[in-house]
Amino acid sequence: MFPLLFLAYVVAVKVFKKTTPNGKVTVYLGKRDFIDHLDSVEPIDGVVVVDNDYLQGRKIYGQLSTVYRFGREEDEVMGVKFSKEIVLSKEQVVPQIEKRDEKPSLTPIQEKLIRKFGNNAFPFTFHFPASSPSSVTLQPGEDDNGKPLGVEYTIKTFVAEHSEDRGHKRSSITLAIKKLQHAPLARGRRLPSSLVSKGFTFSQGKLNLEVTLDKELYYHGEKISANITVNNNSRKAVKNIKVFAVQHCEVTMVNAQFSKYVASLETREGCPITPGASFTKTFFLVPLACSNKDRRGIALDGHLRDDDVNLASSTLVAEGKCPADAMGIVISYSVRVKLNCGTLGGELVTDVPFKLMHPAPGSMEREKANALKKSKSIERTRYENSCYADDDDDNIVFEDFARLRLNEPDE
Ligand SMILES: *[C@@H]1O[C@H](CO)[C@@H](O)[C@H](O)[C@H]1NC(C)=O
Ligand SMILES: *[C@@H]1O[C@H](CO)[C@@H](O)[C@H](O)[C@H]1NC(C)=O
Repeated sequence: MFPLLFLAYVVAVKVFKKTTPNGKVTVYLGKRDFIDHLDSVEPIDGVVVVDNDYLQGRKIYGQLSTVYRFGREEDEVMGVKFSKEIVLSKEQVVPQIEKRDEKPSLTPIQEKLIRKFGNNAFPFTFHFPASSPSSVTLQPGEDDNGKPLGVEYTIKTFVAEHSEDRGHKRSSITLAIKKLQHAPLARGRRLPSSLVSKGFTFSQGKLNLEVTLDKELYYHGEKISANITVNNNSRKAVKNIKVFAVQHCEVTMVNAQFSKYVASLETREGCPITPGASFTKTFFLVPLACSNKDRRGIALDGHLRDDDVNLASSTLVAEGKCPADAMGIVISYSVRVKLNCGTLGGELVTDVPFKLMHPAPGSMEREKANALKKSKSIERTRYENSCYADDDDDNIVFEDFARLRLNEPDE
């Protein structure tokens, strides 16, 4: 008996749902994260289910919107200086409009839900416009309130007579979704590296620093290994060596750029290095969202629930495109090494760029990460089973859509 039950959970399809305050309309989505493959983005496919006899001639519209919300990094309070909501697409979902040349092709999840809810279920599909930016949330500080800054996407449905009407709160729902990028299948063999040197005003000789990373693309949670070689041809002493993982955030719409350390270490190992000699050592860093909790302005891959937060992924752009042309927030990373040569000597600094991303769907690493997530979520499912509507007959597990954090006043 038990193994059978277990199996049912494994093959169950998870569906996210949210119901209007008046309880008459429910929106179902198969997922909340949609992947941008650069040449195409996964469509947003869902189903609206309406109570019998509720509409009485009214219509339900659906829309995909994005909100850009930016403050200025240097502000004490990251107050909103810029906020813009753009409706990317809007269409009538109920009653279904027959499109003449297009037979609507249903996705598996839409078919499943329509089988279950019959005539009360209406499918909808939205598409992200080409080159729309990825979801990014700038982590609020402990004392910040209000909506977090960043790029956000929502699906909203509302009941109205005309598409230009705004609808009533009681019969509207907003679901926050994320648009994300994943790493390409192959990681590439290049080892990013940088070689810099520094001369000193009142003494001869140079200090050389070489930094080499073991990969150019790391998956979230992976250890970055940086080989550092210091070559001493100078008379200056290095007081200490600092190594940082730096997150660079470019907010293209307001033309702002800022950087934050997301992992760091400091050492005096090997110092001083005798003239002509060199010092080589491998240092390790693991940049993680959880070690940067509550630090204002750290960029995250969207933020829907506390348990699946990670640092923002590096922004990839399609070939021939310039990252700065992208609207929204462009994320990049580097390892920064600083040799501190004292007050008079100054610093020798270099940055070596790397990428931080989720493994590509279908890759070995992805399978591993999924297996881990799945075993966790099976446990969670068993534990939280009472929270779900009991629908095992169809192998659909329903989960209430996470409320938008911080920003949804109680309806
Ligand atoms: C870093 O140094 C270690 C030990 O010297 C070496 O085995 C490794 O290949 C080096 N890695 C890179 C990326 O240079
Ligand atoms: C380089 O050698 C000089 C001369 O011995 C020494 O004073 C200095 O501290 C060394 N520099 C480093 C970076 O260790």
